[in-house]
Amino acid sequence: MTAASYQALTDIATIAWRAAAAQPFAPRTELDRAVTLLSGLSFAGQASPRSHGVVERHLRPRAVRHRHAGALLDTLLETAPTIDWIGGDSGYGSEPGMEAFCANYAFCALAGPARWATGCSAVSDEVGFNFTVQGPNVTYPDHAHKAIELYYVVSGKALWKRGDEPWVERYPGEVILHTAGMRHAMKTADEPLVAMAVWISDIQAPLVVVRA
Ligand SMILES: [Fe+2]
Repeated sequence: MTAASYQALTDIATIAWRAAAAQPFAPRTELDRAVTLLSGLSFAGQASPRSHGVVERHLRPRAVRHRHAGALLDTLLETAPTIDWIGGDSGYGSEPGMEAFCANYAFCALAGPARWATGCSAVSDEVGFNFTVQGPNVTYPDHAHKAIELYYVVSGKALWKRGDEPWVERYPGEVILHTAGMRHAMKTADEPLVAMAVWISDIQAPLVVVRA
């Protein structure tokens, strides 16, 4: 990733997170914290771009009615060829449902701890910042982590499940908060899901797949 791509993405992301924080019922405390942490990051150096089949197939121009989500998608499309895209973590392949998920999921890490650093453009022990691409008809199985997680839907609608709540359809521009340790899952139908995600607090703790 180039410094210009990194700056373009973090600038547009910050605008989107700020706008989301102004919405009624937004998790404002977590959003404000995410914006503060993201604005304190600095670009660490250019990483070689790496393409990924899931990104090539599913990160495509789409009509997005939400203004900030649409601007994010445009910037992500422009910068995608400079990004180091990473596939789903094969370390979870033996967990139920994770093999199919990993084959249809890719992400890039703009910021994160040093152990993620193969793709990170900014190194931080306090905040992780990713863009994710989940193919159609794919379930990201129930999982949990100690990190607080904020998702922002960039394009595509998807079903979201938080804890014991029912599945809820989420649309571009919506923010979804996963509190520390909260079990959650995402399920796509006929559209791929493009999202951005921020992790704050305990970002070094691993993700755990939760069995039914
Ligand atoms: Fe998560």
